Amino acid sequence: MTSTPIISISNLGKSVRLGSDNLTILEGISLQVKAGETLALVGASGSGKSTLLGLLAGLDLPTSGEIRIQGHSLGELDEEGRARLRSDHIGFVFQSFLLLPTLSALENVMLPAELRGERDCEPRARELLAAVGLKDRLDHLPPRLSGGEQQRVAIARAFMTRPSLLLADEPTGNLDSKTGDTVIELLFELNRTHGTTLVVVTHDLALAQRCQRQLTMASGRLQGGQHGEASADGRDESGALSV
Ligand SMILES: Nc1ncnc2c1ncn2[C@@H]1O[C@H](COP(=O)(O)OP(=O)(O)OP(=O)(O)O)[C@@H](O)[C@H]1O
Ligand SMILES: [Mg+2]
Repeated sequence: MTSTPIISISNLGKSVRLGSDNLTILEGISLQVKAGETLALVGASGSGKSTLLGLLAGLDLPTSGEIRIQGHSLGELDEEGRARLRSDHIGFVFQSFLLLPTLSALENVMLPAELRGERDCEPRARELLAAVGLKDRLDHLPPRLSGGEQQRVAIARAFMTRPSLLLADEPTGNLDSKTGDTVIELLFELNRTHGTTLVVVTHDLALAQRCQRQLTMASGRLQGGQHGEASADGRDESGALSV
Protein backbone atom coordinates (compact mmCIF):
# COMPACT_ATOMS: atom_id res chain seq x y z
CA MET A 1 0.00 0.00 0.00
CA THR A 2 1.42 3.38 -0.98
CA SER A 3 1.14 6.55 1.02
CA THR A 4 -0.07 8.56 -2.00
CA PRO A 5 -3.86 8.27 -2.08
CA ILE A 6 -5.11 6.50 -5.18
CA ILE A 7 -7.78 9.19 -5.50
CA SER A 8 -7.37 12.76 -4.39
CA ILE A 9 -10.12 15.23 -5.18
CA SER A 10 -9.91 18.87 -4.20
CA ASN A 11 -12.72 21.34 -4.36
CA LEU A 12 -14.27 19.79 -7.41
CA GLY A 13 -17.11 21.47 -9.21
CA LYS A 14 -19.11 20.67 -12.31
CA SER A 15 -21.68 22.91 -13.89
CA VAL A 16 -23.31 22.94 -17.28
CA ARG A 17 -24.81 25.73 -19.26
CA LEU A 18 -28.53 25.39 -19.88
CA GLY A 19 -29.64 28.21 -22.17
CA SER A 20 -28.70 31.37 -20.30
CA ASP A 21 -28.54 29.58 -16.93
CA ASN A 22 -25.76 27.69 -15.20
CA LEU A 23 -26.80 24.40 -13.65
CA THR A 24 -24.54 23.29 -10.81
CA ILE A 25 -24.23 19.52 -10.72
CA LEU A 26 -21.29 19.13 -8.32
CA GLU A 27 -19.89 21.66 -5.89
CA GLY A 28 -17.02 21.79 -3.37
CA ILE A 29 -16.18 18.09 -3.41
CA SER A 30 -12.97 17.11 -1.62
CA LEU A 31 -12.12 13.52 -0.96
CA GLN A 32 -9.16 11.21 -0.53
CA VAL A 33 -9.30 7.49 -1.03
CA LYS A 34 -6.45 5.21 0.01
CA ALA A 35 -5.24 2.37 -2.14
CA GLY A 36 -7.11 -0.78 -1.23
CA GLU A 37 -10.01 1.06 0.38
CA THR A 38 -13.66 0.25 -0.29
CA LEU A 39 -16.01 3.21 -0.49
CA ALA A 40 -19.75 3.36 -1.07
CA LEU A 41 -21.30 6.50 -2.52
CA VAL A 42 -24.97 6.75 -1.73
CA GLY A 43 -27.57 9.48 -2.15
CA ALA A 44 -30.81 10.40 -3.83
CA SER A 45 -31.37 10.13 -7.55
CA GLY A 46 -29.97 13.21 -9.26
CA SER A 47 -27.54 14.04 -6.43
CA GLY A 48 -24.52 13.77 -8.75
CA LYS A 49 -23.09 10.30 -8.05
CA SER A 50 -22.73 9.18 -11.67
CA THR A 51 -21.35 12.56 -12.68
CA LEU A 52 -18.64 12.23 -10.02
CA LEU A 53 -17.77 8.71 -11.17
CA GLY A 54 -17.53 9.88 -14.79
CA LEU A 55 -15.12 12.63 -13.73
CA LEU A 56 -13.02 10.10 -11.77
CA ALA A 57 -12.76 7.95 -14.87
CA GLY A 58 -11.64 10.99 -16.86
CA LEU A 59 -14.60 10.56 -19.21
CA ASP A 60 -15.76 14.08 -18.49
CA LEU A 61 -13.97 17.22 -17.32
CA PRO A 62 -14.73 19.25 -14.21
CA THR A 63 -15.50 22.97 -14.31
CA SER A 64 -13.28 23.63 -11.30
CA GLY A 65 -11.04 21.80 -8.86
CA GLU A 66 -8.68 18.92 -9.38
CA ILE A 67 -8.67 15.15 -9.48
CA ARG A 68 -5.51 13.13 -9.03
CA ILE A 69 -5.51 9.42 -9.75
CA GLN A 70 -2.40 7.70 -8.46
CA GLY A 71 -0.68 11.05 -8.37
CA HIS A 72 -1.59 12.00 -11.96
CA SER A 73 -3.61 15.18 -12.30
CA LEU A 74 -6.37 14.40 -14.82
CA GLY A 75 -6.56 18.05 -15.86
CA GLU A 76 -2.94 17.95 -17.00
CA LEU A 77 -3.47 14.95 -19.24
CA ASP A 78 -4.88 15.13 -22.74
CA GLU A 79 -7.56 12.77 -23.99
CA GLU A 80 -4.98 10.17 -24.92
CA GLY A 81 -3.23 10.42 -21.56
CA ARG A 82 -6.52 9.94 -19.74
CA ALA A 83 -7.35 6.93 -21.92
CA ARG A 84 -3.94 5.48 -21.08
CA LEU A 85 -4.47 6.03 -17.35
CA ARG A 86 -7.86 4.32 -17.60
CA SER A 87 -6.44 1.40 -19.47
CA ASP A 88 -3.55 1.00 -17.02
CA HIS A 89 -5.37 1.45 -13.73
CA ILE A 90 -9.14 1.72 -13.91
CA GLY A 91 -11.98 -0.69 -14.47
CA PHE A 92 -15.47 0.67 -14.66
CA VAL A 93 -19.02 -0.53 -14.72
CA PHE A 94 -21.42 2.23 -15.63
CA GLN A 95 -25.19 2.54 -15.72
CA SER A 96 -25.09 2.37 -19.48
CA PHE A 97 -22.93 -0.65 -20.05
CA LEU A 98 -20.90 0.66 -22.98
CA LEU A 99 -20.51 -2.78 -24.52
CA LEU A 100 -19.53 -2.88 -28.16
CA PRO A 101 -22.60 -4.18 -29.98
CA THR A 102 -20.72 -5.94 -32.78
CA LEU A 103 -18.44 -7.95 -30.48
CA SER A 104 -19.55 -11.10 -28.68
CA ALA A 105 -19.77 -11.24 -24.90
CA LEU A 106 -16.43 -13.05 -24.80
CA GLU A 107 -14.76 -10.56 -27.16
CA ASN A 108 -16.10 -7.62 -25.14
CA VAL A 109 -14.55 -9.04 -21.97
CA MET A 110 -11.23 -9.78 -23.66
CA LEU A 111 -10.95 -6.38 -25.30
CA PRO A 112 -9.41 -4.27 -22.49
CA ALA A 113 -6.65 -6.83 -21.99
CA GLU A 114 -6.05 -7.18 -25.74
CA LEU A 115 -5.81 -3.40 -26.09
CA ARG A 116 -3.00 -3.51 -23.55
CA GLY A 117 -1.21 -6.07 -25.66
CA GLU A 118 -1.81 -8.99 -23.31
CA ARG A 119 -1.82 -12.45 -24.81
CA ASP A 120 -3.85 -15.54 -23.98
CA CYS A 121 -6.67 -13.46 -22.54
CA GLU A 122 -9.35 -15.94 -23.45
CA PRO A 123 -9.12 -18.38 -20.53
CA ARG A 124 -9.49 -15.61 -17.96
CA ALA A 125 -12.34 -14.00 -19.93
CA ARG A 126 -14.15 -17.36 -20.03
CA GLU A 127 -13.54 -17.86 -16.33
CA LEU A 128 -14.92 -14.42 -15.47
CA LEU A 129 -17.99 -14.90 -17.64
CA ALA A 130 -18.59 -18.28 -15.99
CA ALA A 131 -18.20 -16.63 -12.57
CA VAL A 132 -21.04 -14.19 -13.42
CA GLY A 133 -23.21 -17.05 -14.71
CA LEU A 134 -22.78 -16.49 -18.44
CA LYS A 135 -20.75 -19.47 -19.61
CA ASP A 136 -23.58 -20.34 -22.05
CA ARG A 137 -23.72 -16.84 -23.55
CA LEU A 138 -20.10 -16.39 -24.64
CA ASP A 139 -20.92 -15.90 -28.32
CA HIS A 140 -23.97 -13.69 -27.86
CA LEU A 141 -23.86 -10.13 -29.16
CA PRO A 142 -24.94 -7.56 -26.52
CA PRO A 143 -28.27 -6.70 -28.25
CA ARG A 144 -29.23 -10.38 -27.82
CA LEU A 145 -28.54 -10.31 -24.08
CA SER A 146 -30.96 -9.19 -21.37
CA GLY A 147 -30.21 -6.00 -19.41
CA GLY A 148 -28.92 -7.93 -16.41
CA GLU A 149 -26.80 -10.16 -18.65
CA GLN A 150 -25.25 -7.11 -20.33
CA GLN A 151 -24.49 -5.72 -16.90
CA ARG A 152 -22.72 -8.95 -15.96
CA VAL A 153 -20.64 -8.84 -19.16
CA ALA A 154 -19.64 -5.27 -18.25
CA ILE A 155 -18.64 -6.45 -14.78
CA ALA A 156 -16.55 -9.33 -16.14
CA ARG A 157 -14.90 -6.87 -18.54
CA ALA A 158 -14.12 -4.45 -15.70
CA PHE A 159 -12.35 -7.24 -13.80
CA MET A 160 -10.39 -8.45 -16.80
CA THR A 161 -7.26 -6.36 -16.29
CA ARG A 162 -7.29 -6.65 -12.47
CA PRO A 163 -7.46 -2.85 -12.19
CA SER A 164 -6.05 -1.03 -9.19
CA LEU A 165 -9.22 1.09 -9.09
CA LEU A 166 -12.71 -0.15 -9.89
CA LEU A 167 -15.50 2.40 -10.34
CA ALA A 168 -18.90 0.79 -10.30
CA ASP A 169 -22.20 2.59 -10.80
CA GLU A 170 -25.09 0.52 -9.42
CA PRO A 171 -23.34 -2.77 -10.25
CA THR A 172 -26.22 -4.81 -8.85
CA GLY A 173 -29.01 -2.50 -10.03
CA ASN A 174 -30.47 -4.75 -12.70
CA LEU A 175 -29.69 -8.10 -11.14
CA ASP A 176 -31.78 -10.59 -9.16
CA SER A 177 -30.59 -11.00 -5.59
CA LYS A 178 -28.68 -14.24 -6.18
CA THR A 179 -26.74 -12.87 -9.16
CA GLY A 180 -26.30 -9.58 -7.32
CA ASP A 181 -24.75 -11.46 -4.40
CA THR A 182 -22.33 -13.21 -6.76
CA VAL A 183 -21.27 -9.88 -8.24
CA ILE A 184 -20.75 -8.43 -4.77
CA GLU A 185 -18.57 -11.40 -3.83
CA LEU A 186 -16.54 -10.85 -7.00
CA LEU A 187 -16.05 -7.17 -6.18
CA PHE A 188 -14.76 -7.86 -2.69
CA GLU A 189 -12.71 -10.82 -3.85
CA LEU A 190 -10.93 -8.52 -6.30
CA ASN A 191 -10.36 -6.07 -3.46
CA ARG A 192 -8.99 -8.80 -1.22
CA THR A 193 -6.76 -10.63 -3.66
CA HIS A 194 -5.47 -7.71 -5.73
CA GLY A 195 -5.92 -4.79 -3.37
CA THR A 196 -8.28 -3.21 -5.88
CA THR A 197 -9.75 0.03 -4.56
CA LEU A 198 -13.52 0.00 -4.92
CA VAL A 199 -15.71 3.06 -5.38
CA VAL A 200 -19.26 1.82 -5.65
CA VAL A 201 -22.36 3.90 -6.24
CA THR A 202 -25.30 1.98 -4.88
CA HIS A 203 -28.80 2.18 -3.52
CA ASP A 204 -28.28 -1.32 -2.07
CA LEU A 205 -27.80 -0.91 1.67
CA ALA A 206 -26.27 -4.36 2.11
CA LEU A 207 -23.61 -3.57 -0.50
CA ALA A 208 -22.96 -0.11 0.97
CA GLN A 209 -22.49 -1.57 4.43
CA ARG A 210 -19.89 -4.05 3.26
CA CYS A 211 -17.70 -1.14 2.22
CA GLN A 212 -15.30 0.34 4.76
CA ARG A 213 -16.68 3.83 4.24
CA GLN A 214 -20.04 5.20 3.19
CA LEU A 215 -20.44 8.75 1.91
CA THR A 216 -23.73 10.41 1.09
CA MET A 217 -24.21 12.88 -1.73
CA ALA A 218 -26.97 15.45 -1.65
CA SER A 219 -27.58 18.13 -4.28
CA GLY A 220 -24.09 17.83 -5.74
CA ARG A 221 -22.24 17.91 -2.44
CA LEU A 222 -20.74 15.32 -0.14
CA GLN A 223 -22.59 15.46 3.13
CA GLY A 224 -20.44 16.15 6.16
CA GLY A 225 -18.07 18.49 4.31
CA GLN A 226 -14.44 17.45 3.98
CA HIS A 227 -13.64 13.77 3.89
CA GLY A 228 -10.16 12.49 4.53
CA GLU A 229 -8.90 8.96 4.80
CA ALA A 230 -10.79 6.07 6.27
CA SER A 231 -9.96 5.16 9.82
CA ALA A 232 -11.59 1.77 10.14
CA ASP A 233 -10.34 -1.34 8.46
CA GLY A 234 -13.55 -3.22 7.88
CA ARG A 235 -12.17 -5.73 5.42
CA ASP A 236 -14.58 -8.30 4.24
CA GLU A 237 -13.75 -11.84 5.23
CA SER A 238 -16.15 -13.98 3.22
CA GLY A 239 -16.36 -15.17 -0.35
CA ALA A 240 -14.53 -17.97 -2.06
CA LEU A 241 -14.62 -17.07 -5.73
CA SER A 242 -11.26 -16.79 -7.32
CA VAL A 243 -10.86 -13.80 -9.62
N1 LIG B 1 -24.69 16.93 -19.25
C1 LIG B 1 -25.67 17.31 -18.44
N2 LIG B 1 -26.47 18.36 -18.74
C2 LIG B 1 -27.44 18.75 -17.91
N3 LIG B 1 -27.72 18.20 -16.73
C3 LIG B 1 -26.98 17.15 -16.37
C4 LIG B 1 -25.92 16.64 -17.19
N4 LIG B 1 -25.35 15.58 -16.55
C5 LIG B 1 -26.04 15.44 -15.39
N5 LIG B 1 -27.01 16.37 -15.27
C6 LIG B 1 -27.91 16.56 -14.12
O1 LIG B 1 -27.12 16.49 -12.95
C7 LIG B 1 -27.80 15.83 -11.90
C8 LIG B 1 -26.94 14.69 -11.38
O2 LIG B 1 -26.94 13.61 -12.31
P1 LIG B 1 -26.28 12.22 -11.99
O3 LIG B 1 -26.52 11.34 -13.15
O4 LIG B 1 -24.88 12.43 -11.56
O5 LIG B 1 -27.16 11.76 -10.72
P2 LIG B 1 -27.11 10.40 -9.87
O6 LIG B 1 -26.85 10.77 -8.47
O7 LIG B 1 -26.19 9.44 -10.52
O8 LIG B 1 -28.61 9.87 -10.00
P3 LIG B 1 -29.20 8.36 -10.13
O9 LIG B 1 -29.16 7.78 -8.74
O10 LIG B 1 -30.60 8.60 -10.61
O11 LIG B 1 -28.37 7.60 -11.13
C9 LIG B 1 -29.12 15.37 -12.50
O12 LIG B 1 -30.11 16.27 -12.06
C10 LIG B 1 -28.92 15.46 -13.98
O13 LIG B 1 -30.11 15.80 -14.64
MG1 LIG C 1 -26.49 7.65 -11.54
